[in-house]
Amino acid sequence: MSVSMRQEADTGFVEIDNPPVNAIGHAVREGLLKAVKWAEEAKLARVIVTGKGRAFAAGADAREFDSAPKEPHLPDVLNAIDESPVPWIAAIDGVALGGGAEIAMACRMRIISPKSQIGLPEVTLGVLPGAGGTQRLPRLVGLARALDIITTGKPLTAQKALEAGLVHQVADDPMQAALGTGAEALQRIVPTWTLPAPDADEGAFEAARKAVAKKQANQTAPLKVIELIRDTLAEPFHQALLAERTAFLELRNGAQSKALRHMFFAERAAKAPAWLTAEPVSLKHVAVVGGGTMGAGIAYALLNAGLTVTILETDAQGAERAIANVEKIISASLKRGLINDARAADHRSRFAASSDYSTAADATLAIEAAYESMEVKVDVIGKLEAALPKDAILATNTSYLDINEIAAAASDPARVVGLHFFAPAHIMKLLEIVRGDHSSDTSLATGFALAKLLRKIPVLAGVCDGFIGNRILARYREAADTVLMDGATPWDVDKAMVGFGYAMGPYEAQDLSGLDIAHANRRRQDATRDANRRYIPIADRMVELGRLGKKTGAGWYLYPETGGKAEDAAVAELAVAAAKSAGLTRTAYSQQEIERRLVLAMINEAADILDEGIAQSAADIDLVTVSGYGFPRWRGGLMHYADSLGAGNIVEALEGLALEDAVAWKVSPLLKRCAENGGLLADYVPTR
Ligand code: 3HC
Repeated sequence: MSVSMRQEADTGFVEIDNPPVNAIGHAVREGLLKAVKWAEEAKLARVIVTGKGRAFAAGADAREFDSAPKEPHLPDVLNAIDESPVPWIAAIDGVALGGGAEIAMACRMRIISPKSQIGLPEVTLGVLPGAGGTQRLPRLVGLARALDIITTGKPLTAQKALEAGLVHQVADDPMQAALGTGAEALQRIVPTWTLPAPDADEGAFEAARKAVAKKQANQTAPLKVIELIRDTLAEPFHQALLAERTAFLELRNGAQSKALRHMFFAERAAKAPAWLTAEPVSLKHVAVVGGGTMGAGIAYALLNAGLTVTILETDAQGAERAIANVEKIISASLKRGLINDARAADHRSRFAASSDYSTAADATLAIEAAYESMEVKVDVIGKLEAALPKDAILATNTSYLDINEIAAAASDPARVVGLHFFAPAHIMKLLEIVRGDHSSDTSLATGFALAKLLRKIPVLAGVCDGFIGNRILARYREAADTVLMDGATPWDVDKAMVGFGYAMGPYEAQDLSGLDIAHANRRRQDATRDANRRYIPIADRMVELGRLGKKTGAGWYLYPETGGKAEDAAVAELAVAAAKSAGLTRTAYSQQEIERRLVLAMINEAADILDEGIAQSAADIDLVTVSGYGFPRWRGGLMHYADSLGAGNIVEALEGLALEDAVAWKVSPLLKRCAENGGLLADYVPTR
């Protein structure tokens, strides 16, 4: 059943019932329209509409967005509610989002429970409110507030919704409150569509445009909705709705909405694979080895999820530093209002740091986040094995090291698994779960269970240098360094990638993480590097000069004490000198060409990663690139973007580049196969 109807005396009860979150699909629209007619024919005094389960309604069913719209359309259904002689009351207990909020706004009255949320998050799916939201919301809350709510897509708490005038009442039991509202009181409230539209205010539009340019640059929906509201504000309500519908459908069919929908569903599909049926170990006490930035971030994330945490360090001083690092995060969270004093005290009560491994003797999981050296990791695994229960899972947070080699140090390598967090670990959503040759299903299942507990996006990865994300990153940086050597500056490269949609380019990002990390990694790879592969020495020279990034005041950019960052001619000269000593003639690259090379390099590497079975699906690579590495979400992730370019075009471009350097641009066999058979990367299932 999608919508149920029930009458008691002169009140109609309409319940939206489409589990799990009452998405408004075709059957729900039909059901609601039927309910309008039913209430009118029965001459009811009022209708109370609710949602069954945990949501009032989560919005239009986005799964229907790939097919042609089917009548009745939601705007027509909502007009029927708004214009009905029988007044409707929305009793909201749960989320009312998108079309769900639009149903509520078409009702005469809105009553909401304190924990509910209401909002119009359509822009996060690349569309705009398409069932009257762009017209009803400004009439209810005013222009500036409506522009803010719609362009940011952020839902309002019940209290904020009340303050904004979006709802009439906050009540613990919205149904009881609705029943207590008499027909006369209802008749005094005018239908939303008859309210006057607010006056045009160019200042409000300009402020909204500025906010969008700052936070949602490159995204079409937020700007489109501002212009739509501006253009239709003075138009009659129903005429404005037609313009809204046209704009909604245009966005819905566009590339950005498809990409954002893909990400939305990929994130929800990110869970343990069906074959992984093993039970995870029960998680209560977790040991974290190493209390540096990464270890402290992991510890805080674990504390936030209600777990008991012991950070294990090499000595008492290290333990003290670990406590200080975790305390720093607790204080920052308190300051930002993310936790209150009671929660902070609770976190502290479940946290300890020690150099004595026996203090974690009952931990069922250990996550080592110690110094990135095989010797250190092997030593830590040995100590953990000696101190923790025999069946505890031993996870390593290594970014690049061979997990099989680490596991070999354990007497039971099945207990060892990679859990690769991203800094800051208490904020970044991605968790790569790395499957070693001997990792048991229990170890893997524990990784997925932990991700769920921490509300992170888990992605299963195989063992290789850098797993999924860092392997793509390494290739991205190599392509960047090559254009730097051959003709560009770091700021040319950064501008190109910001233009593509990254929040920052690869050089600024390296300055933030520190050039020494990648340098140490290159030294590790010296022994196995392909002698035929071009090696760009500029980054090594930077490290020799002590330019390690922001922390030393100079990296690819200069960081003056007064703040900000500045381009540095000395760095550009370094590239010129490196090219000269290699006997190269430099060429100028357009931003478009830089972007093309860097993106193609990543796609080519990612296709190999998929082909080798290091990633289980193209969607997993999309999740990694967007959630861990800043690839623009509105492009749908690296592989979704690659499919939009088409394998044939990619192969042609790569073959062109291979004429310059056959080793660096060796075309991925998977891309070639897709080009030949017209297949999509999205559909490829690795067999290895
Ligand atoms: N359409 C289709 N399916 C949806 C959906 C939607 N709008 N919202 C949620 N779902 C599905 C999810 O895909 C998931 O499916 P699965 O179980 O098969 O994986 C299931 O519902 C549960 O969702 P979550 O796992 O996200 O559950 P949570 O409890 O964590 O979150 C939520 C619930 C807050 C409602 C969250 O799902 C959400 O934010 N949904 C999207 C809300 C939204 O963007 N609405 C606007 C839609 S566009 C629109 O309304 C246009 C209109 O103006 C015409």
